[in-house]
Amino acid sequence: MKHLGVAFFVLLLIQNYGIFLHVEADNGFVKTKGVQLILNGSPYYANGFNAYWMMYVASDSSQRDKVSSAFQDATKHGLRIARTWAFSDGGYRPLQDSPGSYNEQMFQGLDFVISEAKKYDIKVVLSLVNNYENFGGKKQYVDWAKGQGQSVTSEDDFFTNSVVKGYYKNHIKTVLTRRNSLTGIAYKDDPTIMAWELMNEPRCPSDKSGKTIQAWITEMASYLKSIDRNHLLEVGLEGFYGASKQPSNPNFQVGTDFITNNQIPGIDFATVHAYPDQWLPGSSDEDQLSFLNSWLNDHIQDAQKILHKPILVAEFGKSLKLSNNTQRTKLFKTVYSTIYSSASGGGAAVGGSFWQLLAAGLDNFRDGYEIILSENPSIASVIAQESQKLGRLRKMYARLRNIEKWKRAREIKSRGNNNGN
Ligand SMILES: *[C@@H]1O[C@H](CO)[C@@H](O)[C@H](O)[C@H]1NC(C)=O
Repeated sequence: MKHLGVAFFVLLLIQNYGIFLHVEADNGFVKTKGVQLILNGSPYYANGFNAYWMMYVASDSSQRDKVSSAFQDATKHGLRIARTWAFSDGGYRPLQDSPGSYNEQMFQGLDFVISEAKKYDIKVVLSLVNNYENFGGKKQYVDWAKGQGQSVTSEDDFFTNSVVKGYYKNHIKTVLTRRNSLTGIAYKDDPTIMAWELMNEPRCPSDKSGKTIQAWITEMASYLKSIDRNHLLEVGLEGFYGASKQPSNPNFQVGTDFITNNQIPGIDFATVHAYPDQWLPGSSDEDQLSFLNSWLNDHIQDAQKILHKPILVAEFGKSLKLSNNTQRTKLFKTVYSTIYSSASGGGAAVGGSFWQLLAAGLDNFRDGYEIILSENPSIASVIAQESQKLGRLRKMYARLRNIEKWKRAREIKSRGNNNGN
């Protein structure tokens, strides 16, 4: 069975050859080609994690070892993508204390996170604002504008008020043009950053038609790309569909549409989140897993067949407040096998990042979903296995590419000899 699988896989690889043959190395930046991510000329698949707390913790130099130890733990388990916050707006120890005014100590925390990720060969996905009130979010931006006399009434004015949009654009520009105090590299030129994310889980419940969010993404994607053409960009969507595919959603609408939102120019890959325990409260584990299966497969298929873009399962998890470790492990296995079966068949899924990785000694950041790898060997081994499988996939593609390069070199050489005759 195992060998048969590998043989079949090699066949698929040979079939899919042409897709990546002509992609050249690109200075360590992750790029896309069709439904694949590409790194240094080869398809890139990676297992990952979320760690929203990193900048905050790293801004206190006495706590920085916790960030390092999380990265170290992650590397030991083969994790290669870290998604984290490049925002913290207003409130206690913020990055941005008022529009356009930044806290240098906080920025140095983020500098440390990025330089440390590089050290551990981990790519980071940086989100630029929150949908929710935690760390400020769209509510804080709207409150700032209100304080300046703007007639804004709802959090959702974040997406339309021109003063608020100006504040947010300024944040994009400030973060992207930040020069890392430790590496000397501007963020927009740093290949350690895999992608920017416009917003963590954008929602606009006041306009369920989806037009408001569609216009906002269009404007912000184009603005961000005008500053940075090196990096990939994604929206930060959970994956809820608009009217065209309503029945696939859990029982609520948030004003986004997975299809049209991800079709916007400048959006390089799609994301999907999965929290069956929150979205289907009170339902059985069986029902939740069955929802999870179709939810992920629908999005992977749509990314492949409609969007023609890669897709990252950017958040998933199961709270231990509502379940036990066995149930959680089952959910992880379901997500991982869905991702791997797509990836190994040349599909659009590129990896998954679970919510959320924590280091020991950070009890304030526990939310029921946390995983401290060293304290939870059973889930840690499931995570490590997925990393290994995706890593093997990556190596196979790279090997294949080398064989092809060698063949081409030989062809050119023999042509050269013929010409000499
Ligand atoms: C976990 O919860 C499930 C469902 O309630 C139960 O069947 C199972 O025995 C529990 N496992 C452990 C190890 O407690």
